[in-house]
Amino acid sequence: MKVVVLISGRGSNLEALLQDQSGYQITHVISNNPTAKGLEIAHHYGVTNSYLDWTDRQKAEQFLLDISGQEQADLVILAGFMKILSAELVDRLFPKIINIHPSLLPDYPGLNTHQRVLEDQRDWHGATVHLVDSQLDHGPRISQTTIPVTAADNATSLAEKLLRKEHKLLTRTVGLMAQQQILWQDQQLMYKQQPL
Ligand code: GRF
Repeated sequence: MKVVVLISGRGSNLEALLQDQSGYQITHVISNNPTAKGLEIAHHYGVTNSYLDWTDRQKAEQFLLDISGQEQADLVILAGFMKILSAELVDRLFPKIINIHPSLLPDYPGLNTHQRVLEDQRDWHGATVHLVDSQLDHGPRISQTTIPVTAADNATSLAEKLLRKEHKLLTRTVGLMAQQQILWQDQQLMYKQQPL
């Protein structure tokens, strides 16, 4: 399975995917931020990588479509990609586009999820991998992972703990998609084994 990954910054989820690549191959990494550490990581792993200027969104989105078409990408992964894609682009790519979000969706779409979980005194926090549709942090949920929130936690500790679990969740989910163990069929997600 050929995969294109879109990033905006640190790229730790990208790195987890690059280390894993079990049954899938990352063919291109694209960042809207020219100084994203994730671009260096892609370079280190010898993967084609591009900076994509987002000033002209239409042009940028056409580039994304061209790349995924040319490279016959089976999947586009948003891994810390901080731009909102147009409904037109998402409709064209659905169901071959997924996102990882640091909350137990449908709770806490958007930013600052760790802080909001703490403010609401939640006992549990987590992350979600989902198919991307035209609404923000929305779309059929594929897999989730959870962590307990303790009295000692702050936003930084939660983010750190969750990130380690995100890496496992994302690589495992993409691996299962590559093996066709998780697929989109008849307008719904099908699991050939127990849901994650
Ligand atoms: C992760 O927390 C991911 O869930 C969110 O953005 C962050 C990206 O981190 N969408 P990294 O760039 O993969 O390190």
